[in-house]
Amino acid sequence: MSTPKVLTTLLGASLLAACSGDPPRPDKPEAPVVQVADVTQLTGDVEAGRMGFSQCRSCHTVEAGVNRVGPSLHGVVGRPVAHEAGYRYSTAMAAAGGVWDEQRLYDYLENPREHIVGTKMTFPGIKDGQRRADIIAYLKTQAG
Ligand code: HEC
Repeated sequence: MSTPKVLTTLLGASLLAACSGDPPRPDKPEAPVVQVADVTQLTGDVEAGRMGFSQCRSCHTVEAGVNRVGPSLHGVVGRPVAHEAGYRYSTAMAAAGGVWDEQRLYDYLENPREHIVGTKMTFPGIKDGQRRADIIAYLKTQAG
């Protein structure tokens, strides 16, 4: 009778993942958390990123010009920081400067409130670098 043990292990893994802010990957429940500093060391998976973007949808759309709690993320890869027309950014984000290139997004999404102190994006971040790379790959397709 090993079933209860397996169940407990699975539950434990999901709970741990929930605490770190990353939901379990249905496809790879045992996948280790990827931690690299340089986004170019990873290959983002667009379809995984499309699913991962469900964590952003409560506040963001990828439709051009449609701002919600957060600004539209249509074409955000390569866009100057805090430049979505008609969106009221926090003072901190408005003053941050620079461009949302892939590395900047990768760093920001790990811990938004540490990367831009004072941002009003109340999202804890995604610890797993591969998941961030996946979402960035998806966002790159949401442009033009
Ligand atoms: C709880 C709501 C919320 C969630 C969830 C959320 N965001 Fe945000 N996001 C915001 C808000 C609000 C801002 C504006 C921040 C500011 O002005 O300080 C923002 C800003 C941003 C910006 C800067 C855009 C620009 O025009 O400069 C990026 C990039 C971004 N979010 C990406 C994401 C991604 C990717 C996810 C999902 C992994 C996500 N956000 C999840 C609320 C959210």
